[in-house]
Amino acid sequence: ENLAMCPFRGTRIGGAIVSTPTTDDWWPNRLQVEFLHQEQPISNPLSDEDYKAAFNSLDYDQLKKDIKEVLVSSQDWWPADYGNYGPQMIRMAWHSAGTYRIADGRGGAGQGMQRFAPINSWWDNGNIDKSQRLIWPIKKKYGAALSWADLIVLTGNCALEIMGFPTYGFAGGRRDAWEPDRSTYWGPEFWDGKKYEESQTGVNRKGHPEEMVNNNLRWKGDPKEEYHDLENPLAATHSNLIYVNPEGPGANGDPMDSARNIRESFARMAMNDEETVALIAGGHAFGKSHGMVEPDKLGAAPEAAPMEAQGFGWHNPVGNGNAENTMTNGIEGSWTSNPTNWDNDYLINLFKYDYKQTKSPIGAIQWTPVQEDAPQTPDAHIPGKSEPIMMMTSDLALKVDPAYRKVCEKFMEDFDYFTTAFAKAWYKLTHRDMGPKDRYLGTEVPAEDLIWQDPIPAVDHKLVNDQQISDLKKQILDSSLSVSALVNAAWSAASTYRHSDKRGGANGARIALEPQNNWDLNRPKELNKVLDTLKNIQSDFNQSSGDIKISLADLVVLGGCAAIEKAASDAGKTIKVPFTPGRMDASPEWTDVESFDWLKPVSDGFKNYHNNNVGYHVAQERIFLDRANLLSLSAPEWTVLTGGLRVLEQNYDYSKHGVFTQRPGQLTNDFFQVLTSMDYEWVPKSSSKLLFDLKRRDNGQVDYTATRNDLVFGSNAQLRNIAEVYAADDGNDRFIHDFVAAWDKVMMLDRYDVKDS
Ligand code: HEM
Repeated sequence: ENLAMCPFRGTRIGGAIVSTPTTDDWWPNRLQVEFLHQEQPISNPLSDEDYKAAFNSLDYDQLKKDIKEVLVSSQDWWPADYGNYGPQMIRMAWHSAGTYRIADGRGGAGQGMQRFAPINSWWDNGNIDKSQRLIWPIKKKYGAALSWADLIVLTGNCALEIMGFPTYGFAGGRRDAWEPDRSTYWGPEFWDGKKYEESQTGVNRKGHPEEMVNNNLRWKGDPKEEYHDLENPLAATHSNLIYVNPEGPGANGDPMDSARNIRESFARMAMNDEETVALIAGGHAFGKSHGMVEPDKLGAAPEAAPMEAQGFGWHNPVGNGNAENTMTNGIEGSWTSNPTNWDNDYLINLFKYDYKQTKSPIGAIQWTPVQEDAPQTPDAHIPGKSEPIMMMTSDLALKVDPAYRKVCEKFMEDFDYFTTAFAKAWYKLTHRDMGPKDRYLGTEVPAEDLIWQDPIPAVDHKLVNDQQISDLKKQILDSSLSVSALVNAAWSAASTYRHSDKRGGANGARIALEPQNNWDLNRPKELNKVLDTLKNIQSDFNQSSGDIKISLADLVVLGGCAAIEKAASDAGKTIKVPFTPGRMDASPEWTDVESFDWLKPVSDGFKNYHNNNVGYHVAQERIFLDRANLLSLSAPEWTVLTGGLRVLEQNYDYSKHGVFTQRPGQLTNDFFQVLTSMDYEWVPKSSSKLLFDLKRRDNGQVDYTATRNDLVFGSNAQLRNIAEVYAADDGNDRFIHDFVAAWDKVMMLDRYDVKDS
């Protein structure tokens, strides 16, 4: 017991690895390269599990039966509204998927991120902790064979089905994440009274007022500022929400303003007007809103809740804290008199009656019918009691906005059409971020292809053998195409891939289609020349090769392989770049041009592509880090690829920035040698510090120029240490080996036809 008193050990034991300040507190502007290394197998207790096999082996029909049983088995610790958990489960599934945003593909239901901060604690996800815990018995029963991510979506489907709605389909295959995502930008947070420091990220949402929102209150600022200039890539009008404020922007109770917000927000999630109306009108056919207790009486959100809450948040001290005292979002009531039945009453009620503004028991803005004969809705818990139906400001938006109104009228006239529209929109909502259909598992996957799946035809021919591969490579190199042009075509094709929603990539040869074949950063003139040459080689080959064929998509990648082998050989190294045939070519009819345009990087360090007129709020190297993250690259992969692409002259405008070599076109570690050399000083060309000269210390001569995306590999300590590995005297072979491995990884990122996940 004397230990604590020992003067040499101190009397206070306070510090532990997470005690602040840590490095992030001291150096908030440091480029956090380690964000590339989240979600490693070591954090996943199921990393040795073959999820595909496990999911395919479970008794799917029994699973659905079990879920449906849970949905109608009310538990005393959280009594079900109307004896049916269906509606709250639909909301859980919708909120799980609804974080998706098309700009960077992040968010979505694909990894069960609703289980972790910050999403588990967003105000808009109030009481979803209860929904998740209610289905724990299912998760427990099926264990590793059923991810939380799949279970959350499937429970939403089961909920719809028990209430009479015919769902369109379900695919399993979502792999759970096992840690909070610390890097995704969800917009500035205004929690706990702390203003989010602009300096922390270098970004802030334009026009967002600086008042704090405390944990339990929706933001109530100037409504006009909430929808003006919503920052890319965000989809929710502010953080903590899935989409928009149900009381209208800034709780202004203005349905027309709300409509504008909804349109922008749903478009950011890749939903058009019809899909948007189908989703809202479909969803609000079910369940109710909960607003019985003032938010400031509630306990903290799950992430800040006390130990004894065991993961539950928003402790409600009134009564049992549930049933007729439930407090979720603050608005109170239901939209229809049959909240556990699929019917058209939501739209009928919305249009048949006029609505006047009123307040929920705790003062949130909502709307109630003017007409006395409007239907009532049964109380969710007290038998024999009924209440007037209600609408939210965001519901009235569908009535006042002329375009939404048209869709509503169509849906009201044709209930079957509406039913199908909602079923398809729900399927898209919940499967949007799963990527190619090769990833879909289970017996309920619809056969039909849908354009948002970016379909690629199935392989319909025999694949080229080794001899043919080397003949084709020779033909490609014998054409007049340069190494740089071939590498550009292959890299441009493959590097559109985003690990976030698994879209893009070389498969499909969409590099040859609008819009990609004309993106300025793809060097379109040169690219189309490469494609024309490759198409000729392809057609010659396919005419004479019997039932063996090669796709353009494969040839584009093969061209890259051939070019890199040549670049190495020109530098005196014989190497083989792996090539896995089996890609197919997509058609323009099955390519949604607008949707593909979202895959165009706003800034791309791999090609030194950065348009300073755009008005970025983020330094370019941060967007470059974001690109590396979307490609699921590690820091060494990111580094080695950049160094290799620079000496292979991949800058989008053919500039020489970062081309630190006297022998461009050869695959060497010259980039790293020059980067780490003390022969140079690094002189900004102007005060904006976007461009730099590499000036010889001995004679003042400028040998090279560089961008921030080049020099970050020398200035950031983590990247510099990696760059040193490749610059070292023993580094060139390692450089070539690692470059080829990382290159192959990028070429294969979208090949879910041959890899597992
Ligand atoms: C409930 C807002 C779109 C399905 C609610 C609640 C709010 C809300 C405030 C009440 C939560 C509570 O207090 O329990 C909105 C807004 C939307 C939107 C502002 C978009 C403009 C959707 C969509 C769906 C959906 C697209 C599904 C397709 C539901 C369901 C409930 C619900 C089923 C009832 C939950 C329960 O009974 O516990 N919504 N919602 N909502 N929402 Fe939405």
